[in-house]
Amino acid sequence: MNAYRILFVDDEPSILEALRRVLHRQRRTWDLVFTLDGQGALDELAKAPFDVIVCDLRMPGMDGASLLGEVKERHPNVIRIVLSGSADREAVRTLAVAHQFLGKPCEADTLRETIERACQVRGLLDSSALREVVGRLDRLPSVPHTYWELTRAIDRPDVSVAEIARIVETDPAMTVKVLQLANSAYFGAAQRKVSVSAAVAYLGLGLLKGLALTVHVFSALEGAPAAAFSLEELQREWLMTARLARSFVIPRERAEEAFTAGLVHDIGKVVLATAQPERYGEVVQEARASGRAQHVVEEERLGVTHAAVGAYLLGVWGLPLSIVEVVARHHTPGLAVASPSQEVLAAVHSADVLVHQLRDGVACGLEVDAAFLERAGLIGQLEGWRAAAEAELARGAEEARAA
Ligand SMILES: [Fe+2]
Ligand SMILES: [Fe+2]
Repeated sequence: MNAYRILFVDDEPSILEALRRVLHRQRRTWDLVFTLDGQGALDELAKAPFDVIVCDLRMPGMDGASLLGEVKERHPNVIRIVLSGSADREAVRTLAVAHQFLGKPCEADTLRETIERACQVRGLLDSSALREVVGRLDRLPSVPHTYWELTRAIDRPDVSVAEIARIVETDPAMTVKVLQLANSAYFGAAQRKVSVSAAVAYLGLGLLKGLALTVHVFSALEGAPAAAFSLEELQREWLMTARLARSFVIPRERAEEAFTAGLVHDIGKVVLATAQPERYGEVVQEARASGRAQHVVEEERLGVTHAAVGAYLLGVWGLPLSIVEVVARHHTPGLAVASPSQEVLAAVHSADVLVHQLRDGVACGLEVDAAFLERAGLIGQLEGWRAAAEAELARGAEEARAA
């Protein structure tokens, strides 16, 4: 088995020593290399490939941000984690070069888990086709900061709507989207909501978290020369899938997870369209013309599907592995190992297929995996789900007319 290679950079020898001690147990499966400065790190990276780099921000000479900027340029497939003191938090905000942030001091378990997850996600990159696609992006969109801020705030029991609204307001793209949605006919908005806090209270926290993830991916695509599809259309479709998935999922405590997974399930399409706009446009056309599922044509023409690419991106962003898995398997739920996410996977898979079927007819090439639903004990739900999807679609059409 291949050992994962992890590079640590910190100008404090005592910190490197502590890291070495904490990660001692991992030495059989992880190959750990320690360096005291940026130049040393670049030398190591030039010598042999690494999976993950964990680096301090404040260092004499080349600081962490410049180092990670270089790594992003020269070794785009290495996952970049910042491990820094809380005083640097403001600097961190503006840093677009890291996939993930950890505060110092960092719990040993958090550190191990974060690196482990980064390695697992990096494992998805073992597909050479995926590597090629991701390598083509001049940068992988980095984790939207607003998402983490919201997640942290929402986890506090005493958080107020005003605080949530303040976080949203620090993010212009989010603010626009939140106001737009809260005032859309799709949400049955009778009164205009002009303040962000009114909009936030109206939309709910699950939706906000999902939005924080998608809004920035979309803004990355807006600059792409030939978008293969309408962004508005795609966003409407995702929202429908998310709402349906939330209503399908049986254990109610997993409903918000189903919503988030539904909202981001096709995020890989945006990544593919950004990485190779012309070729992806052809793929979309070919799928439409031949009546085959888009992911099948992607696999054939690009060697990789939007499901794998999307899962990779979300994994790098540090989303819960349960959501990453649902995204990876949303067309092929039968391949997933049985897990507590099975119900969420069933909900997202079914919602996705129903939305496509009802909208594009059989020409979408997608079918509900009945054998999987049977095994999950959910096949009896399918007719009810179809009826719910029809109602949802009618609502979506109304919204499109009103817009
Ligand atoms: Fe999909
Ligand atoms: Fe979809």
